[in-house]
Amino acid sequence: FPNQLPSKPKTGKYGEAYLPFGFTCTSAKAHTTESLEYAQNFCVEDTDVFAITYPKSGTIWMQEILPLVLNGGDLTPIHTIPNWERVPWLEEKQLARVVDKLASPRALVSHLPYSLMPPSFCTSKAKVIYVMRNPKDIMVSSYYFHQMAGCLEDPGTFEEFMDKFLEGKVMFGKWTDHVKSWRNSELGDRIMYITYEEMVEDLPASLRHISDFLGCNLTEEVIQKIAEHCSFKSMQNNNMSNFSLMPKVCMDSDKSPFLRKGIAGDWKNHFSSEQLARFTSVISKELEGESFPLPWSLD
Ligand code: A3P
Repeated sequence: FPNQLPSKPKTGKYGEAYLPFGFTCTSAKAHTTESLEYAQNFCVEDTDVFAITYPKSGTIWMQEILPLVLNGGDLTPIHTIPNWERVPWLEEKQLARVVDKLASPRALVSHLPYSLMPPSFCTSKAKVIYVMRNPKDIMVSSYYFHQMAGCLEDPGTFEEFMDKFLEGKVMFGKWTDHVKSWRNSELGDRIMYITYEEMVEDLPASLRHISDFLGCNLTEEVIQKIAEHCSFKSMQNNNMSNFSLMPKVCMDSDKSPFLRKGIAGDWKNHFSSEQLARFTSVISKELEGESFPLPWSLD
């Protein structure tokens, strides 16, 4: 989006022209003009909690975590409701269908940049957990995702995909634009930043942090229970979370599983030294002058 749509259209109307780069008609069915308008007019409640990410940063991981933290560790929803209904996407068509079934406090996910959040979000007290991930690992994860997701264009070679990624000609545009929009969002204590890498390193500590931010006061026993059920292995085995319920034409796990490796630093297995230098140079230039610290070194 952002590279095509730098600011909110004055009319409040979103047309097909604003569909993300590289999306084919299958995903156009998930992101329709109507669903984007619905998102714009969505009535955000003060108690809502949003997991916001740039794609491939750990969205479905936070989608798994949020309801468990909010409901005190009750596993029923994660065993009975597919994640896209349990914690729906603000910008997808699905939301209108499931919104009435969501219990308060509601958990939602979104890839939208801050500038495209609905007006009611800005005036509400809704909280946000923004998950950041090393962009090099995002690119690798996205490269495999493009191979398995029927809604996305073939990524081409790794080198070709890197060009598209750095130019922002991928779904939801440039990583740097997304991060800048949310890091500079002025949401104060309504937003918490967390990294994928922190979560990989110590999930229980991350859960304590999230629980404190949301005022949930979870016991250590519940924290450990949630950590166990949100581990990479448990999520891989949970049909409600691993996208195995999706038709193969939409997601083909024979090509690459959605829950692929679940590690930090896989970029080291993919980047040549030239690619690393080019990637670092482009990203560093685009972040020049930004005051927020990056949790990882880019090179
Ligand atoms: P990899 O492709 O590097 O394995 P998103 O949900 O934003 O699309 O992000 C997908 C990435 O998050 C994938 O990364 C996936 O494996 C990883 N992921 C999802 N659940 C995870 C978990 N419980 N632990 C570690 N990584 C997880």
